Amino acid sequence: MENIVRHDYQINREARNGRNKHHSFVIWFTGLSGAGKSTIANLVEQELFNRNIHTYSLDGDNIRAGINKGLGFSESDRHENIRRIGEIARLFVDSGTIVIAAFITPLEKDRQMLRDIIGKDDLVEVFVNTPLDECERRDVKGMYKKARAGIIKDFTGISAPYENPQSPDIEIHTGNQSIESSVNQVMNSISERLQIIEPAGI
Ligand code: ADX
Repeated sequence: MENIVRHDYQINREARNGRNKHHSFVIWFTGLSGAGKSTIANLVEQELFNRNIHTYSLDGDNIRAGINKGLGFSESDRHENIRRIGEIARLFVDSGTIVIAAFITPLEKDRQMLRDIIGKDDLVEVFVNTPLDECERRDVKGMYKKARAGIIKDFTGISAPYENPQSPDIEIHTGNQSIESSVNQVMNSISERLQIIEPAGI
């Protein structure tokens, strides 16, 4: 951009990771509404927090009610929703924090945008694969019923698309595994990235 010059700060990500003694990256949960993204994300965050790891959760409640207030569920609004969250997540990673993000993120092009914004190496994509009929059966928030009745428009899985991720880093089948084993699956698969690091001198 014209007339904008990035300033390099002395206290950088490496220094923060060193002080925190762990790496920072994003764990991004994608899946249908009601798939169990937030439930698993919450428990993963607790596990990390109990290990003295710096974490922060981004989810619909703190994003769509705040910085993304005013964005709806059209394809372009979802795109902007995801783009802003991706940029926020990137800042948190730079701050040395492990970000736990739970958003439907229905389209492959938007998930690709996340890889571009955050960087593939700093992004762990978790597909919470719960079939539509199971999400609809649970209907925790009563939204599928409203979507079927046409009261909610552009509802993912009913009147708006969800493209299954083709090569997620982690795929969870909530239909045939317990919540505990889902959480373990995530924890095991990030254990290498989590490695404790020695503080860097500045
Ligand atoms: S995303 O598509 O832009 O990634 P996001 O995860 O932020 O969606 O928000 C999804 C949540 O918003 C759902 O869990 C549901 O509670 C609510 N919601 C309201 N309207 C819709 C809709 N039309 N489609 C999907 N979710 C909706």
